Amino acid sequence: MLVTGRELLQDAHKNNYAVGAFNVNNMEIVQAIIEAAEEMNSPVILQASQGGLKYAGVEYIAALGKLAAEKAKVPVVLHLDHGTDFDQVMLCIRNGFSSVMIDGSRFDLEGNIEITKKVIEVAHAVGVSVEAELGKIGGTEDHITVDAKDATFTDPDEAKRFVDETNVDYLAIAVGTAHGVYKGEPKLDFDRIKTIKGMLNMPLVLHGSSGVPDEAIKKAVANGINKINIDTDLRIAFADGIKQFLKENPDNIDPRKILTPAKDGMKEAVKEKMVLFGSVGRA
Ligand code: 13P
Repeated sequence: MLVTGRELLQDAHKNNYAVGAFNVNNMEIVQAIIEAAEEMNSPVILQASQGGLKYAGVEYIAALGKLAAEKAKVPVVLHLDHGTDFDQVMLCIRNGFSSVMIDGSRFDLEGNIEITKKVIEVAHAVGVSVEAELGKIGGTEDHITVDAKDATFTDPDEAKRFVDETNVDYLAIAVGTAHGVYKGEPKLDFDRIKTIKGMLNMPLVLHGSSGVPDEAIKKAVANGINKINIDTDLRIAFADGIKQFLKENPDNIDPRKILTPAKDGMKEAVKEKMVLFGSVGRA
């Protein structure tokens, strides 16, 4: 069943758990995530980045996501990850996404509020939930890169003003994670998560969550994170499945045979994340 992000994340917020938001680019990835969610009886968010939309096309991603949601025995959100321009966000809404992110973090506070409000006015009118980002999360998510020196943590007072003025449904905060593979161990600012949660009393989002130690993820959830974005760890699981299979079967040319272990590996990785995030049995 396709549901809005607001509906799904309000439950996570009230009951102190987090829902995994996993990046999708093709059919096998969608199937791996949905099968994992069904086996774990967990709600789930399928999200497409701009790179994903460019790779597969918005119509394909939307059709795959909607079909998967319709057939699934668990609630599913189809979400746009890091929408950066108004027109593209509108295109996703028109294609049936039930949640969109408008990432105005490259603008100053006023500019971020302005573009977020513009998106929310339309999205809320048609029942689509909205995520925004405040502060700057470092690293690279597809073609969007933020240098470590430009990454800035979310200021709690600014976050309060941002939410009051925009009426955003859930907020991505910058607290020490970065997109992509980490060079060292990330240091999360748990107190900042707690402070922001206390001031906003709403669902909070953690980006760049691959490679973050399990204990840190658990603590982030305990302090108020309700949506956890995972891309890199799933890419690794998928690629490992392909590499291993081709190592053992170098002459195999059947895409179905090559992609099945990739899908299975990814499914296991998703299930592990669902256990970690506390979303098992919450569907
Ligand atoms: P990772 O690739 O680090 O898991 O980050 C994913 C993400 O935050 C997508 O928005």
